Amino acid sequence: MNILVGYASVEGQTRKIATAIAEHLEERGHRAILFDVATNAEYSLERPEAAILCAPVHGAKYPDAFFIFARRERDWLNSVPCAFVSVTLMIASNLEDERAEARQFAIHFATTVGWMPRDVFHVKGALRFGEYDFFKRWIVRRLAAKMLPGVSPDDKGTHEFTDWAGLSSDVDNWLKKAVTSKA
Ligand SMILES: Cc1cc2nc3c(=O)[nH]c(=O)nc-3n(C[C@H](O)[C@H](O)[C@H](O)COP(=O)(O)O)c2cc1C
Repeated sequence: MNILVGYASVEGQTRKIATAIAEHLEERGHRAILFDVATNAEYSLERPEAAILCAPVHGAKYPDAFFIFARRERDWLNSVPCAFVSVTLMIASNLEDERAEARQFAIHFATTVGWMPRDVFHVKGALRFGEYDFFKRWIVRRLAAKMLPGVSPDDKGTHEFTDWAGLSSDVDNWLKKAVTSKA
């Protein structure tokens, strides 16, 4: 199948996730088109047969470019098998209400856009304290201190929480359903 892997990324983790998904799809014998929705360019496939869209939550919302893309493309997206990969920190929380909030971001987004992805995968993102400016560091430290008690407030390192094996297995399960529905 020709599959669009569209993504938006602010700090690079979602790009890494989308790239891993595209590589995984290619390993499974499909043609993946990796596309940064923020470029506003045309993707090089006229009619993708399926799509996986990936975006991170920053400040309780997905990037505007992702919203604009999903809204613009929703008619054909709703006509093919789709998955939404929502990248957050809150889904890694030890508190159920934080995880529920992370799930709610995706539901609210899809409902507002009018896009009905068949599956939503909640993927844990990453923290790169050393790469943030003062303001971002302040925001993220507060977020991390509340939800990830193991992370020290003085930490300047990179913490990747993404479960790569879990992601591959989610994509494989989605792929099976997508291929069956095309047959
Ligand atoms: C300034 C900032 C704000 C963030 N806000 C949230 C948030 O509101 N909820 C959440 O779950 N994660 C939040 N995160 C965590 C990001 O979703 C996580 O770092 C993700 O890996 C970022 O993906 P990206 O590297 O593709 O931009 C925030 C991260 C940053 C740097």
